[in-house]
Amino acid sequence: MNWKNLPGSNLVDVAFSYAPAKIILGGEHAVVYGQPALALAIDRGVRVAVSKAADVNGPILRAINLGFVGEVRPDPDGQGPVVLREALARLAKILGREARNLHFAVDSDVPVGCGLGSSAALSVALVRGIHRFWGLDLVQEQEAGLALDLEKIFHGNPSGIDHTVISSGGLIYYRKTGEVAAVQSVVPAHKLKFAVGISGPHGGTARAVSLLKERSRRHPDIYVGIFSSIGEIVAQMKRSIEEGRLAALGELMDLNQGFLNSLGVSTPKLEALCSIARERGALGAKLTGAGCGGAVIALVEDDPEEVVRAFQAAGYVAFSTQCEVGR
Ligand code: PMV
Repeated sequence: MNWKNLPGSNLVDVAFSYAPAKIILGGEHAVVYGQPALALAIDRGVRVAVSKAADVNGPILRAINLGFVGEVRPDPDGQGPVVLREALARLAKILGREARNLHFAVDSDVPVGCGLGSSAALSVALVRGIHRFWGLDLVQEQEAGLALDLEKIFHGNPSGIDHTVISSGGLIYYRKTGEVAAVQSVVPAHKLKFAVGISGPHGGTARAVSLLKERSRRHPDIYVGIFSSIGEIVAQMKRSIEEGRLAALGELMDLNQGFLNSLGVSTPKLEALCSIARERGALGAKLTGAGCGGAVIALVEDDPEEVVRAFQAAGYVAFSTQCEVGR
């Protein structure tokens, strides 16, 4: 898409945007192989203030809290994480000359590299902020398409579930067949409440996905069977959510975790977090996102704080979150 051709350009001095983080309730990894997955936006996210920079060697991103604090430019030899520099270079390429004097101040309360969608939230918030700054209207599909372009810098060839749920908000049932993604909004009968425990950053989504691809090539029939079982779990999860059967949902999360472990993307720390949560009465627990590190989500019936405290007492960073939709 050519931003410069969009009608209604109407510059303002500063524009603010926000995009939430996400958790994957079920179906990560299997979604890369055409199975459905469930994901929901959570009440943490990335904030961006877009303004005009004093010089034209940008775009410039000033990270206040992004797992990195400092200034980044689209400079191959500059300071800051290489993916951020590359993402700015991609933005500059998509947006053309107009992007050169854009300044982004970015703040976030999403742990980085933990499977909570921090990079997709940054991508969506940047795209959203720029279109507000320029006074342009983007429909959600356009926003998600541009964010996916940026997300590819961080994730190689993502299934698209992260930026889709982050752009739409709410809870979605997502399935990608070939290049075509089918997205269904899901309305839970009850609010879904979670304790989230962080085992530490993972080694990167692209890496976890490609190592799994290598393993699956050695025993293709077995892996296809596992992926389709996960797909069936996710389909049943959707029904449990819509019918308000939380205990069934928890059991399905535990089953999904068993399969994720057999796929080789769990770790002793992730398993420990799941055990802590279940011992403290969680209805179910599983890793979320790429695994090989990152976060565990534990579904609870009432107050998540007891599980959060148990995670913290065992030395993990933890917080509670809930699905914004639901009665
Ligand atoms: O970005 P993460 O860590 O939330 O992982 C995304 C989920 C995967 O299924 C592992 C990858 C993908 O592209 O769907």
